[in-house]
Amino acid sequence: MAFPETRMRRLRQNPAIRDLVRETRLSAEDLVMPLFVRTGEGIKNPVSSMPCNYQMSVDLLTRYCAILHRRGVRAVLLFGIPAVKDETGDVACDPEGVVQQAIRAIKKEIPELYLIADVCNCEYTNHGHCGTLRDDGTIDNDRTLLTLARQSVSLAQAGVDMVAPSDMMDGRVGFIRRALDKQGFKDTSIMSYSVKFASAFYGPFREAAESTPSFGDRKSYQMDPANRMEAIREAELDIAEGADIIMVKPALSSLDIIRDLRNNFSVPVAAYNVSGEFSMVKAAAAKGWINEREMVMEILTSIKRAGADIIISYHTQEIIDEL
Ligand code: PBG
Repeated sequence: MAFPETRMRRLRQNPAIRDLVRETRLSAEDLVMPLFVRTGEGIKNPVSSMPCNYQMSVDLLTRYCAILHRRGVRAVLLFGIPAVKDETGDVACDPEGVVQQAIRAIKKEIPELYLIADVCNCEYTNHGHCGTLRDDGTIDNDRTLLTLARQSVSLAQAGVDMVAPSDMMDGRVGFIRRALDKQGFKDTSIMSYSVKFASAFYGPFREAAESTPSFGDRKSYQMDPANRMEAIREAELDIAEGADIIMVKPALSSLDIIRDLRNNFSVPVAAYNVSGEFSMVKAAAAKGWINEREMVMEILTSIKRAGADIIISYHTQEIIDEL
């Protein structure tokens, strides 16, 4: 039956019926808040390109996590800014490293808060690349796996619930899984940044994490945003290697990929609503050009509608009370 018997607008007449037929609902349990921790005490440095986001020292971060948890945030994703960096990012494996300290402190105060830690070299290397460099400046994939696995084990020893490798080296999920299992961390989960595009949307994050590469770009390891079939292969490989959750990033420019992964695989799919997506909204809102609250809800709902089970977003802290 078509018009005039069928009228789609019948089910849009008032809020009650619209709520009854709504297909996608955003809830607090879908969201993960990314946080930046740095060495020191009493430190809360604003990230200029990401309003309301800060680099915090362990003491203040722990207090902030307690507040977030009370307000309904169930999970956070931790990034570290260490006191010193080195050639290979080995400082990330230090049991007294800044993220390890944060994990122990937060777990002691708020044991129910689910802790995810990013695993990568770029915040820890003095050149800002996600892997170990050879003399000619290219990335040594297989050498990098050693550091990534050691970093993961060290984070697990500190008590993290889940590691999230974001480096895009080949074979790292399997390598990390075996290292964790060998050390007895069979229950530590892996959320793999399976489809991570080489994206301009990470700009503000690199200010926050102090991880801008000192030369070149990340195109030899992160994916070309033009590729869709390659995204499926990346996800396939990560699942075969033992990824518990696969992630797509950035989210808003990859809604088609999120849907592809949702349709092709049965593992949970996460999407990272990244720094550049966040900052664009903030900048436009500061100009008074958009309705920020409505836009944020629309963006996050669209990411969920695309097929994401988990959404990592800097907006989490702002909208959690509403959810
Ligand atoms: C580390 C990493 C990056 C992001 C998450 N993990 C940056 C990058 O690859 O340059 C980006 C997150 C964001 O933009 O919010 N490799």
